[in-house]
Amino acid sequence: MSIETYLFGIKLQSPFILGSGPLSYGAKGLIRAHNAGAGAVVTKTIRDNPAVNPFPHMAVSGKNSMINAEEWSDIPGSEWVAKEIPEAKKAGVVVIASIGHTPLEAKNWVGKVSKAGADIIELVSYERDTILPMLKKAKLLTKKPVLVKISPNWVDAVGIALEALEAGADGITAIDSIGPVLRIDIKTGKPLIGGGNGFGWLTGSSIKPITLRYVAEISSATDKPVIGLGGVTKAEDAVEMLMAGASAVGICTAPIVKGVEYISKLNVKLEKLITELGYNNSADLSGLSHKYLNSAANNKKFDFIYNPESCTECMACVKACAYEARTLSSKNMSLDTDLCRYCGLCFSVCPNGSLRPDYL
Ligand SMILES: Cc1cc2nc3c(=O)[nH]c(=O)nc-3n(C[C@H](O)[C@H](O)[C@H](O)COP(=O)(O)O)c2cc1C
Repeated sequence: MSIETYLFGIKLQSPFILGSGPLSYGAKGLIRAHNAGAGAVVTKTIRDNPAVNPFPHMAVSGKNSMINAEEWSDIPGSEWVAKEIPEAKKAGVVVIASIGHTPLEAKNWVGKVSKAGADIIELVSYERDTILPMLKKAKLLTKKPVLVKISPNWVDAVGIALEALEAGADGITAIDSIGPVLRIDIKTGKPLIGGGNGFGWLTGSSIKPITLRYVAEISSATDKPVIGLGGVTKAEDAVEMLMAGASAVGICTAPIVKGVEYISKLNVKLEKLITELGYNNSADLSGLSHKYLNSAANNKKFDFIYNPESCTECMACVKACAYEARTLSSKNMSLDTDLCRYCGLCFSVCPNGSLRPDYL
């Protein structure tokens, strides 16, 4: 079994693509991620002027989530073109050049990064109305595949993604960070993030369900690749992302927090998990869930199956029942079916699968 993946006909050593962020700050970062097993690496976003970031601009927020106020690349575009991209290409990295955030900047950089050796272009913008004009410019300047990165902060981001595909985008990256958001240090009352208002952008495991919805909805409507980026921190998340319809899986927060070497662990775990689930490769999983979306079969009443042997009588299922329908005493589980609304929370909170619905 191999986790090799193809994106626009380009062979990736793994379906994991390092998303644009601090680990892809320059050639050294791109090469480190490639050596750690990333299938491809998206550069930090290249713009006309190098970014100046607030102090501090990254903080963890709960388990495997972060907020950040990091701007685009602090390396000039000219250096990316002359040195960083060619160096990464020489080391064998599959390079996706991230270009932001305006049509003029697309005009200034798309052709140059393509000539410098970037394999794929990714367009990103803070403003929904600029992404399509950026795409128009980009398609005139390169024959390389162009990805459009969508932001969940845009009204109708799915609509924009579909318009972009219609207008010639070769694929979609979903999604960018979500915000603005705020966290406060309770000892001082100060925001965790520096700069003007202390606001930042949320990434990591807290945003996974949002990403999954975008990936499922967009990939259901196109045969072009969708890269599912947002909230993947474990191999299980990657499987979920592939099943939602992703062709490849982006990761940014997880390797930032756990170190870039974490990508090699994810590769090993994903390969093992795909085999355990009975599939041959990651492509077998892509879009597997589509048939259950918008389907009447997804709304059937079910029965419960209880396994007293594995039950530890932690009472989580009883406590979680808002309707007091469930009782458990000395491994005797009973359910008042008149009170039960079949909401599913009781088996969802069961830590070891002792209570489950008959369809799982
Ligand atoms: C510190 C940090 C910096 C980021 N910088 C960029 C950037 O320059 N350009 C960009 O398109 N996305 C940027 N992102 C967004 C990520 O590429 C990605 O869309 C987002 O983090 C969701 O993925 P994750 O949940 O795996 O982190 C950044 C994210 C983080 C955490």
